[in-house]
Amino acid sequence: MTLENDQSAAAPSAGQSAVLSTAPEGGDPVVTTGSEWWRTAVIYQIYPRSFADASGDGIGDLPGITARLDSLGQLGIDAIWLSPFFTSPQRDAGYDVADYCDVDPLFGSLADFDRMRAKAHELGIRVIVDLVPNHSSDQHVWFQEALAAGPGSDERRRYMFRDGLGANGELPPNNWESVFGGPAWTRIEEADGEPGQWYLHLFDSTQPDFDWTNRWVRDQFLDILRFWLDRGVDGFRVDVAHGMIKAEGLPDWTPPAASGSMGGGAGPEGEETASATAPYWAQEGVHDIYREWRSLLNTYEGDRVLCAEAWVDPLSKVALWVRQDEMHQAFNFAYLESPWDAPALRTVIDQSLEAFSSVGAPSTWVLSNHDVVRHATRLAVTAENPQGHGLGPTSAGLPDPAVGLRRARAATTMMLALPGSSYIYQGEELGLPEVIHLPDEARQDPTWFRTDGERYGRDGCRVPIPWESDKPAFGFSQTGDTWLPQPAEWADLARDAQLGVPGSTLELYRTLLALRAEHRLGLGTMQWVEGYSGDVIAFTNGHVLVIANTGTEAVELPAGAEILLASSDVSSGVLGADTTVWMKA
Ligand code: GLC
Repeated sequence: MTLENDQSAAAPSAGQSAVLSTAPEGGDPVVTTGSEWWRTAVIYQIYPRSFADASGDGIGDLPGITARLDSLGQLGIDAIWLSPFFTSPQRDAGYDVADYCDVDPLFGSLADFDRMRAKAHELGIRVIVDLVPNHSSDQHVWFQEALAAGPGSDERRRYMFRDGLGANGELPPNNWESVFGGPAWTRIEEADGEPGQWYLHLFDSTQPDFDWTNRWVRDQFLDILRFWLDRGVDGFRVDVAHGMIKAEGLPDWTPPAASGSMGGGAGPEGEETASATAPYWAQEGVHDIYREWRSLLNTYEGDRVLCAEAWVDPLSKVALWVRQDEMHQAFNFAYLESPWDAPALRTVIDQSLEAFSSVGAPSTWVLSNHDVVRHATRLAVTAENPQGHGLGPTSAGLPDPAVGLRRARAATTMMLALPGSSYIYQGEELGLPEVIHLPDEARQDPTWFRTDGERYGRDGCRVPIPWESDKPAFGFSQTGDTWLPQPAEWADLARDAQLGVPGSTLELYRTLLALRAEHRLGLGTMQWVEGYSGDVIAFTNGHVLVIANTGTEAVELPAGAEILLASSDVSSGVLGADTTVWMKA
């Protein structure tokens, strides 16, 4: 299959039934089709700086991705999502953008992007880029102009500048804290050298928040969307899609202890937590922005998509981001945050299917990304570990790696049987664990610095991935340089050590993806199968029966049913601890 996605790209292919419906609240008509690619896609997240380095500087780049795309074709994914590769001082690994319409020289050039996009499309792989609209880099010309222009200027109104409190404005405008720790406000020095206004940054102080009530900001981002759509991208993953509008008056707010750092993770049963009402998350006004973006995407051919990174709970609220005239998909972080526990999983799956289908959107599923502890480690951690805190040598509850890997394989085997769209994070197909023993001096996540090392942060899931066991940097970079050190034991996990090896994690993923496509599980309908013990979760999706054992007691498999695949050995006819099997129903 070859894809060509530009203005002249093909309309929905034969067999897709277009439905014209009227948008709620009198907006533009919405064209939906029942079988758009993104409803069932398996989307592979590339974290460019850690994927493949062609230049040899130790940081992955776009030519490196192009050179390795064939391996993703062999894996059997439908699309790639690339974390930011735009011009950036890299204070938050590229989530601090200084030019939204250019490539940072670290990663290559726009021509390198075009080559990468063309090769991906040749292989039938769609390309989603990361859009970071909540904030820019402080080095962006728009922010530099705002600093220079002074209080009250149009340039200052692009961002969230406010006068300070106290007799001389020496106190921040409110008590908000940065997601990365420390205050969410920084005071600037005005042109006359005197301390002046403060600006808001929900993340690092080098990431000033835009003021999205300003039409000028909205227009700039419509142009940015057009720039990449015209370049043939298939869609956007939208960073901090729940944060762009802040409550009127910017009222003080104290988050409840230990809430997820990206905005208050879902409660254990998906119930609403107090964090959902933070005055900087999930404000009603954000939805107007996405309606406008959706209208723009609808003018392009080829099923372009918007996927929301909205750390909001409960799931019924996340569904607001994917109403028919807004985005297409939203990450299912409630699923990611579920423990490896049958009743909890069953609850979150039911809630997901109900919430997303109530607005006509597919559910998504995800277990790992560049912000969370890799699931081959996380699922065996025995102590509380809030999102974003990461793991290091002194963390509580460090796991048994073998248990972690076994659970991760079982969890992925369950996830890829669920109807809807799934996200895979680079390296999980190799069974990579979180790197816990990174030297302190190697760490780069702003979280580590802003909390004085109290939180390790996210570097442990971002270590460059291994390709060839006997090459320098395991084939990541020909010079052997890597921006974070790779553990020596990753030689055994390198792609070439697993390719074609029965039972390897890579072969498990390849088989899962092939069978998922063959049995059309992404499009399917699930039904729970009752009668198993409380630690077991069992369901059918079409003609496939899935049984997962999250407990320790072995479970008898149904006699005579053909086994399609299993995450661990089931040849004795029983399903051992932490194992998932697919059988013919
Ligand atoms: C998102 C990104 C994360 C980044 C933050 C600020 O949550 O996934 O990596 O640090 O936004 O842009």
